[in-house]
Amino acid sequence: MSLETTFLNHTFKNPLMNASGVHCMTVAELGELAHSQAGAFITKSCTLEKRAGNPEPRYYDVPLGSINSMGLPNLGFSYYLDYALSYEKLHAEKQPLFFSIAGMSAKENLEMLKLIEASDFQGITELNLSCPNVPGKPQLAYDFEATADLLAQVFQVFTKPLGIKLPPYFDFAHFDQMATILNQYPIAYVNSINSIGNGLYIDPKSDTVVIKPKDGFGGLGGEYVKPTALANVRAFYTRLKPEIKIIGTGGIRNGQDAFEHLLCGASMVQIGTELHKEGVAIFERITQELAMIMDEKGYQTIDEFRGKLRVMS
Ligand code: FUM
Repeated sequence: MSLETTFLNHTFKNPLMNASGVHCMTVAELGELAHSQAGAFITKSCTLEKRAGNPEPRYYDVPLGSINSMGLPNLGFSYYLDYALSYEKLHAEKQPLFFSIAGMSAKENLEMLKLIEASDFQGITELNLSCPNVPGKPQLAYDFEATADLLAQVFQVFTKPLGIKLPPYFDFAHFDQMATILNQYPIAYVNSINSIGNGLYIDPKSDTVVIKPKDGFGGLGGEYVKPTALANVRAFYTRLKPEIKIIGTGGIRNGQDAFEHLLCGASMVQIGTELHKEGVAIFERITQELAMIMDEKGYQTIDEFRGKLRVMS
């Protein structure tokens, strides 16, 4: 029995990662991920300059998940690139690091991509087009024309492995449209889904919202979002060319949830809300639970069931 996963020509000890935004803001947190049982890990989505993000409270655990409006707080592009380069120097034998960027404009994204291209960074870059929490900045990947324009420019300047973090889509027409755009480019993977944007949670005792930014509106994660995440993983797995892999993110709390993402076609899976609740020990728990489920079902490897969701005839 093995949980090993081959992704972009690298073999990872298991398919579990953190979701960008959780436990990956500082070098100390990244170091804890590096020493955890996660198969890989990703940095907090960054901007060229460091950002304080939205006012607190801006993250709140709720019974069925979480709501957040962090507003892309981060320590700036150079902080994370310096970390990535020194990580690669110290751990040349280790798996590639995932480096997430989320510029405030197409220009800023292109600028960061050019800097990564010109650097010695050997890992995998994730372009986040789906942060729902910056006031006045809609999620770019809901604008199909702007996404197509940006990708056309990106692949003129960037040749290293690149994944795209997508928001959830809710209509077959949108799955089709986005897949048609993505299939035109040498994209390494898509990561589905970012949080379900702009939910509203009310504290029943005080009749107030639970986070301060945007009058309480924020991205939903956790149990709430798993069916939407699975649908997006499945929709893109069945629409994208096979060279474009899928990372499944959304609602993974246990081995069964991870199994379901893999069954829908994900190659790797990311954990956000539950990692925030439980800390990095979660990776050991979920790898054990996933291994037990595979054992019960008679699978020796993930490849034996990846993408093999059954539908009714
Ligand atoms: O608000 C945030 O920092 C969240 C980012 C994201 O969801 O991509």
